[in-house]
Amino acid sequence: MMRTHDCGAIRSSDLGKRVTVAGWIRFSRDHGGVLFFDLADCHGTTQLVFDPEAMHDDADVEGLAEVLSAFGRESVIEATGIVRDRVPGTEDPRNPTGKIEVLIETARLLNSSKQIPFEVAEQKNSLLPGEDLRLKYRYLDLRRSQMISNLRFRHRFISCARRFLDENGYLEVETPLLTKSTPEGARDFLVPSRTFPGHFYALPQSPQLFKQLLMIGGVDRYYQIARCFRDEDSRADRQPEFTQLDIEMSFVEERDVQAAVEGILFDVWKCMFDTELKIPFPRVSFKDAMSKYGTDAPDVRFGLELVNVTDIVKDASYEVFKKIVGKGGVVICLNLKAHLLSSSLSEASAVGRKEVDRLIEWAKAQGIGGLTWMRVTEEGLSSNIVKYFSAEVRSRLMRAMDTELGDLLLFLGGSETQTRRAAGALRVKLARDIGLIDGKEHQFVWVVDCPMFKKDPVTGHLEPFHHPFVRPVKGDFDEDEDMSAVGGVSYDLCLDGAEIGSGSIRNHDPVVQRKVFNLLGMSDEEVENKFSFFLEALGYGAPPHGGIALGLDRLVSILLGCDSIRDVIAFPKNKRFQSLLDGSPSRIEDSKLSELQLLSLAEDEEDDGGSESG
Ligand code: AMO
Repeated sequence: MMRTHDCGAIRSSDLGKRVTVAGWIRFSRDHGGVLFFDLADCHGTTQLVFDPEAMHDDADVEGLAEVLSAFGRESVIEATGIVRDRVPGTEDPRNPTGKIEVLIETARLLNSSKQIPFEVAEQKNSLLPGEDLRLKYRYLDLRRSQMISNLRFRHRFISCARRFLDENGYLEVETPLLTKSTPEGARDFLVPSRTFPGHFYALPQSPQLFKQLLMIGGVDRYYQIARCFRDEDSRADRQPEFTQLDIEMSFVEERDVQAAVEGILFDVWKCMFDTELKIPFPRVSFKDAMSKYGTDAPDVRFGLELVNVTDIVKDASYEVFKKIVGKGGVVICLNLKAHLLSSSLSEASAVGRKEVDRLIEWAKAQGIGGLTWMRVTEEGLSSNIVKYFSAEVRSRLMRAMDTELGDLLLFLGGSETQTRRAAGALRVKLARDIGLIDGKEHQFVWVVDCPMFKKDPVTGHLEPFHHPFVRPVKGDFDEDEDMSAVGGVSYDLCLDGAEIGSGSIRNHDPVVQRKVFNLLGMSDEEVENKFSFFLEALGYGAPPHGGIALGLDRLVSILLGCDSIRDVIAFPKNKRFQSLLDGSPSRIEDSKLSELQLLSLAEDEEDDGGSESG
């Protein structure tokens, strides 16, 4: 071993010992000929000191000074010396090694470093360089203590989950990466085959089909820390390749899978935070989530629920609402309770007029015409528009919104989907602005009773709400059923307003599975071409089965409070899904393309498009 201790290990109990440490020179200072070095590795930082006065008479002081003069920033060195107390008053209480220093006796340069493109020593996030630079030099970015601690947290999360699954009869199985397409709603990344020119593998969007095949193979309980690949639009919580904790179980129903996930997370919480996670998690139906929270991934840590007041305000003579209702739209109201307002950003007991104006601007930016408000005063509802609302309508509104003196009612109106979405976003914005989430624990919630299908708003075609393998609630369909009303046995797991997992009970009956494919508009020929192997497998005694996949990157990044999942992935792609580190995606030489019998039609110019949304 080149070292006796890592850079975070030496303590006062080691005083007087001769130690050897190795790492990177993060900082150096010269205090009148006494040199100090902060030597760092992923475990911590140890102060080294070259103090000519304190060295033995027979030591080669000049020789050592010359070696040390080559110790530039981020060069890699090894040093041996004696552990001693730091001079009183110079200790660093924030650093576990902050009471001691190592008086250097011998040292050697193991490797020098070029000038670093950005500071890797601990500093505020706001001082970090642009993310693209960090990603280009990710290996340097990983030297920052924040990054290594994120990776360590992620590792601990996975290893706790893995231990629980191992101890509870789940078999970890690797499924193939070169596969036929697995539909999860994104485009596939394709890999050309050399031996079958014109034929392609698809990288899996998820191990969905293979984990179901494992159940047919009798594996019973499976898990995998599975890499998935999806070519879809960029967002802060999306990567083209990401990791799922993927699970499948035989002879189970919906609640069994949910209980299994709760068990895993309970155990992870115990093992990582030594706290008892409250299980079972609350459940909200998809319908309620959309109507109360305006989203299928609700943050249930605070109230501020949305109320549809269309039926009440339709009786008012207020033209704006009348028009909206006339066009089949909705009016949604939020009650900012007086007690929340008094602790809010604004003065005293009201969100001021200025703040309401800012909210109106915000609503417009969401594509909603605007935002209307009313205050609850001693005289009842008050605002510039209450004159259009009869006393009866006003009192119905107050009852529906359960108002008290000082409350502020905010109304959003427009087409149903857009208004719900905007009202849901307003709810979260207000909660953030007035500090309703601050200091709140994380909260998981199951979103259940989702539909099987959704209709493409443009074509009217049915699309799977999740994926095509979800079992209908009744197990089958009636010929004359309204398919958009059919429920699937599926469930999403949300954490603090983000979907971090999704699962379902599957179709184990090949006849029903074929019907689903047909309902999704696939011809028999297409079904045959894409899924005959799978339908055939279902025909050989597929057991009832179901499962779930948790998005590990998302889950871990929420727990760590990161702005983006990129901060919990060692080598992520940037916002345009490029790897700036190795320069991928990159052009392929013509000779390689012709080997694959491919021809690129792309122009030579670099494409400049693409941006992150959401
Ligand atoms: P789904 O497609 O909902 O379900 O994916 C499960 C979870 O994976 C995470 N996730 C992503 N994370 C980062 N980047 C992405 N591009 C990305 N896409 C999805 C989300 C999501 O909840 N086979 C089914 C699961 C099943 O039915 O068992 C599936 O993949 O957190």
